[in-house]
Amino acid sequence: LLSEQEQPKKDKKGNTMTQAKAKHADVPVNTYRPNAPFVGKCISNEPLVKENGIGIVQHLKFDLSESNLKYIEGQSIGIIPPGVDKNGKPEKLRLYSIASTRHGDDVDDKTVSLCVRQLEYKHPETGETVYGVCSTHLCFLKPGDEVKITGPVGKEMLLPDDTDAKVIMMATGTGIAPMRAYLWRMFKDAEKAANQDYQFNGFAWLIFGVPTTPNLLYKEELEEMEQKYPENFRLTCAISREQKNPQGGRMYIQDRVAEHADELWKLIKEEKTHTYICGLRGMEEGIDAALTAAAAKEGVTWSDYQKQIKKAGRWHVETY
Ligand code: FAD
Ligand code: A2P
Repeated sequence: LLSEQEQPKKDKKGNTMTQAKAKHADVPVNTYRPNAPFVGKCISNEPLVKENGIGIVQHLKFDLSESNLKYIEGQSIGIIPPGVDKNGKPEKLRLYSIASTRHGDDVDDKTVSLCVRQLEYKHPETGETVYGVCSTHLCFLKPGDEVKITGPVGKEMLLPDDTDAKVIMMATGTGIAPMRAYLWRMFKDAEKAANQDYQFNGFAWLIFGVPTTPNLLYKEELEEMEQKYPENFRLTCAISREQKNPQGGRMYIQDRVAEHADELWKLIKEEKTHTYICGLRGMEEGIDAALTAAAAKEGVTWSDYQKQIKKAGRWHVETY
């Protein structure tokens, strides 16, 4: 006989759900929809890029104490910027990965945090500098300002329940957001006894790509965890405009993956291992190429293997 927990779960229509779906059936989604967002307040908005770094990236904290919004690590929220678009329609929501744990940065279950880069690019025809609508709105919010929040959404990037799991994280730039949530869940909340239900004793390896040293988002936090938990946390950085890859080009995270490919491949084969990729879509091809080479040494076709671990819910990608 199956225990109650093991009984196949049914969805709203009474159909039996697949294992993966059933596992995440309790994860909150769409508590606030775009037609009725939660209007929260910005508590703080701090720069993450140090002097001489490139661009603007901010750590924002919002007050959820007046809302019903609950979320877990790896989910995203939507932000609706004020104003209308070029067609005169109200601006649509943009998604942002949540950078805090379910308990929030103050470990009081009342806040949500984001890590936002102001989009800035040169218009391909006019050459004018263009700034993104929503990212600019967020990066310049002041404490006390209102912000329209939807969601939470997303079940792709959830952490496994297994506290002995091995977690490989590959992030570029603001792709660090969900990884920060995982690391806080693993190493910070536990210290504050906020999660008796999740005392992490596995291994986490973050491979993080940024353009310059002053762009190393959350540098102090990451280095502190590395020092405190050397057995459980490893940090590898790819600083593209300061370090060179073996071909003499910019050092990207796929170059770091290639450098450690055998070790990573060995880890990925373990059933306890989950891999998370977040940030620029461009990194995926290089990561696949590096792992293709490592797997081939054992006669394994990476693309087939990857399909299997995707299906098993052990390969998680959110690129934008
Ligand atoms: P918009 O005003 O909407 O401008 C974007 C448009 O500008 C593009 O659609 C394109 O038409 C044009 N454009 C952009 N770049 C160029 C270019 N180089 N040349 C020509 N045209 C260009 N962002 C974060 O900062 N942090 C996060 O944690 C984060 N998480 C995300 C999670 C998910 C699941 C997704 C899908 C996206 C995430 N993003 C994140 C990106 C975010 O949703 C927005 O896309 C981003 O902030 C830009 O929005 P915007 O309103 O500022 O830009
Ligand atoms: P670079 O801009 O030097 O070419 P940020 O979001 O702070 O700009 O950081 C993104 C990081 O990802 C930068 O180091 C950037 O390098 C790097 N990057 C850009 N394109 C790719 C790509 N195709 N694959 C991997 N990393 C990339």
